[in-house]
Amino acid sequence: MPTLKFAVLPGDYIGPEVMTAALRVFEHVAKQEGLTLAYTTADVGGAGIDNHGKALPDSTLKLCAESDAILFGSVGGPKWEKLPPKEQPERAALLPLRKHFTLFANLRPGLLYRELTDASPLKTERIPDGIDIVCIRELTGGLYFGLPKHTTTLPDGDIQAVDTMVYKKSEIERILQVAITAARARKKKLCSVDKANVLETSVLWRKTVSEYCAAHAPDIALSHMYVDNAAMQLARDPNQFDVFVTENMFGDILSDEMAVICGSLGMLSSASLGTGRNSLGLPFGLYEPAGGTAPDIAGKGIANPCAQILSVAQMLRYSFNLEPIAKRIEAAVKKAVTSGTRTGDIAFGRPSVGTKAMADAVIAHL
Ligand code: IPM
Ligand code: MG
Repeated sequence: MPTLKFAVLPGDYIGPEVMTAALRVFEHVAKQEGLTLAYTTADVGGAGIDNHGKALPDSTLKLCAESDAILFGSVGGPKWEKLPPKEQPERAALLPLRKHFTLFANLRPGLLYRELTDASPLKTERIPDGIDIVCIRELTGGLYFGLPKHTTTLPDGDIQAVDTMVYKKSEIERILQVAITAARARKKKLCSVDKANVLETSVLWRKTVSEYCAAHAPDIALSHMYVDNAAMQLARDPNQFDVFVTENMFGDILSDEMAVICGSLGMLSSASLGTGRNSLGLPFGLYEPAGGTAPDIAGKGIANPCAQILSVAQMLRYSFNLEPIAKRIEAAVKKAVTSGTRTGDIAFGRPSVGTKAMADAVIAHL
C-alpha cells in the first residue's frame, strides 16, 4: 500500500476550513484507492506567529523538509497587518518557503467549465466552450526577492523605498523549460509575457526565450506579448492563449485576472515546483489554492474548498506520480460544481450551501 507522506500547513482564516474539507475528500479517495495518508499538520503564517512567535516556525520548516510534499492553505489577514512588513505572514512564511525549497515554477491552470460560462464576468459568446489555459509563473525571482530591498530616509527628509527586479539568464531558462514541457503536453503553443519595451530584465527575458526556443523547442509555436497587452487580451479573448509564461510579479497579477475570468478565485489551484526531488525521486512541491485567506467569509463555513481539493490533485500528479487519481478528483470536482445549481452556486460565490456541502458533493462523485 503506497504511503503518501506530506506536510499540511492550513494557515489562517479560511485556510483551515478549506483544508479540513479537502482532507476529508482526500481520505475518501485514499480509502478507495488503497493509499495510506501519512500527514502531519503544522502552524504557518499568523498561526505560526500566534503559537510560536514566528510566521515560519523552525519545527514547521523541519517537517516540510522531511515530507515528500507540502499541502498549503493560505496565510495572512487583518490580525497581523500591524506587524512590521517583514514579519507579516505572507513575507515571513510563504515567500521564504518558496525560496527555501527553490520552488521557482508556479503552475496555475485557468479552467472554466463549459457548463458554467455564465459564472464568468466575460460575455458568454466570447467563451462559448469555457476557458482552458495555463499560467506558468516564475516564483523565486524578480521584484519579490531582488536586492536591494529597503526603505530609507534621505538626507532631505524624504523617504525612499526600493525593490529590485533581477533575473539571470539561467533563471529564465529553467522556468522556460517548465513552460515548454507544459506546452508540449497541450497544444504546443506558448506565449511569453514581458515588458521588453521598458525593462532591462524583460529584454533579457525575451532574448533568452527566443534563443532557447529556437535551439531547443522548434516544435513550439512561440509568441511574445507585452504584459499590459496580455492583461487586455486575457479579458478580450482568453482562449487565444494556451500556455503563457511570465516573471513573478506579472504572473501574480495575470493569474488573479485569469481566476476571475474563470468565474471564481475559489477554483484556482496551484503547484509550485523546483529542482528538488522527494524521497520517491519525484518533484518536491508546494500545493496551494491561489485565493488567499478571505477573512470576510472566514468562520461562516461558506468558503469554496474546490481550489484546495484541486491542489490535492496537483500534489498527487506531480509529487506522487498518481495521475489517474488526480484525474478522478478533478472529474469529481467538475461534476460537483456543474451538476445541480446548489453546488454550482457555492463554487462561484453565490448564496451557498457551504464548504462541507461542497466537499460532500465532490465525495458523492468519486
Ligand atoms: C499568490 C499570492 C502571494 C503572491 C502573496 C500571498 C504573497 O498573491 O500566491 O498569488 O503574491 O505570490
Ligand atoms: Mg496573487
